Amino acid sequence: MWGGRFADGPSAIMREINASIPFDKALWRQDIAGSLAHIAMLAKQGIVSEDDAAAIRKGLSQIAAEYEKDGVPEDWDLEDIHMTTESRLADIVGPAAGRLHTARSRNDQVATDFRLWVREAIDQMDAGLEQLQRALVMRAGEHADHIMPGFTHLQTAQPVTLGHHLMAYYEMIRRDRSRLTDARTRLNESPLGSAALAGTGFPIDRDMTARELGFDRPTANSLDAVSDRDFAMDYLYAASTCALHLSRLAEELIIWASQPYGFVRMPDTLSTGSSIMPQKKNPDAAELVRGHAGRVIGCHTALMITMKGLPLAYSKDMQDDKPPVFEAAGLMALSIAAMTGMIADSTFKTDRMREAAQLGYATATDLADWLVTEADIPFRDAHHITGAAVKLAEQRGAALDELPLEDLRAIDTRIDERVFKALSVDASVAARASYGGTAPQQVRSQVERARAQLGMDE
Ligand code: ARG
Repeated sequence: MWGGRFADGPSAIMREINASIPFDKALWRQDIAGSLAHIAMLAKQGIVSEDDAAAIRKGLSQIAAEYEKDGVPEDWDLEDIHMTTESRLADIVGPAAGRLHTARSRNDQVATDFRLWVREAIDQMDAGLEQLQRALVMRAGEHADHIMPGFTHLQTAQPVTLGHHLMAYYEMIRRDRSRLTDARTRLNESPLGSAALAGTGFPIDRDMTARELGFDRPTANSLDAVSDRDFAMDYLYAASTCALHLSRLAEELIIWASQPYGFVRMPDTLSTGSSIMPQKKNPDAAELVRGHAGRVIGCHTALMITMKGLPLAYSKDMQDDKPPVFEAAGLMALSIAAMTGMIADSTFKTDRMREAAQLGYATATDLADWLVTEADIPFRDAHHITGAAVKLAEQRGAALDELPLEDLRAIDTRIDERVFKALSVDASVAARASYGGTAPQQVRSQVERARAQLGMDE
């Protein structure tokens, strides 16, 4: 395709290092769509005759059918998907095929194809995340009343409800989806017609190709358009943050599934056994979701570092933009599907959770709050008095609400029998009814708002 000025062909090493066809063949659908839009525009503008355009269109459809049926052939000499398709087009329609590349360069072509591909990846990830949100909302609704220990520093802090805990992840995924929406909005401009870097002298209509390909408008600066990969980095950042959220949830499920916790039984369908220890059931899917997050974050980092020193406009380094994006998209699709299955089909052992919440003095803050509201003691003093009560309970090996009243009164005489009502885990969660709090009634309104956001009741 560019042999005109060369005396020798490329060495074997050059052919191999140069070839992107092994991975960019994934862009074939976008490449055909871009070419169809381009040829329609060239014909409409009178740059290519209607006859040539019709032949090219027919040839492109035939190639699409061939790729669909037999896959894309991988010939390193043809370097990439653009040249592979163009060379096949020449076989089919003859010299007229050469007119397709008028007023276009592979630089704007690949930028266009890649934007189209990432746009679809965004839409797919978003659809997967909606399913995960639905699963979270369903399970949160079932468990709005079920009490578990809430942790800080992974130490028992205050009782919370399982529904509240699950809805925390709903919120993270909601933000992940809004990051994808942002990325999509910024992405949706068409580089096609920027040509190699400077635009073109042909009387093209960039609005037409933009419209045809579902873009909102053409990009404003041709130098930027062929050298910008922000849209891919935006996508990878959104994916990384989402992967990080999934990893945190996976980590919790792994801890919860361990025998000392026993908070959850993972579905058999998403667990594995051990070849040597018959009793084992391992949460491998969750561990791989946690592991994949590292790889997705690596993909984001890889592309940022590829781009960081590049002068305008296109440099061949940018060919390396695709593997990390393809890899991350595959990992995210699997991670989201696995997590959706784990959330939908895990059995939460609510008795065990409740028991655990009753240990660890999770209602100590409630004693302190009671001293403030009922005995008008400043919070800092109440905190101190409560600390003494916890110390005593610890010495006795008892829960706070198992301490006899006279022992509590020995610590502070302002305590009376009404305090016991405040010390149960049920009273503790019911009291935390501030907006967004853990009280079952608050969790139920969170679930209701979420169901409305997702259109689950329509
Ligand atoms: N395969 C190339 C890539 O993915 C296409 C663009 C080639 N442009 C060029 N000037 N060599 O980046």
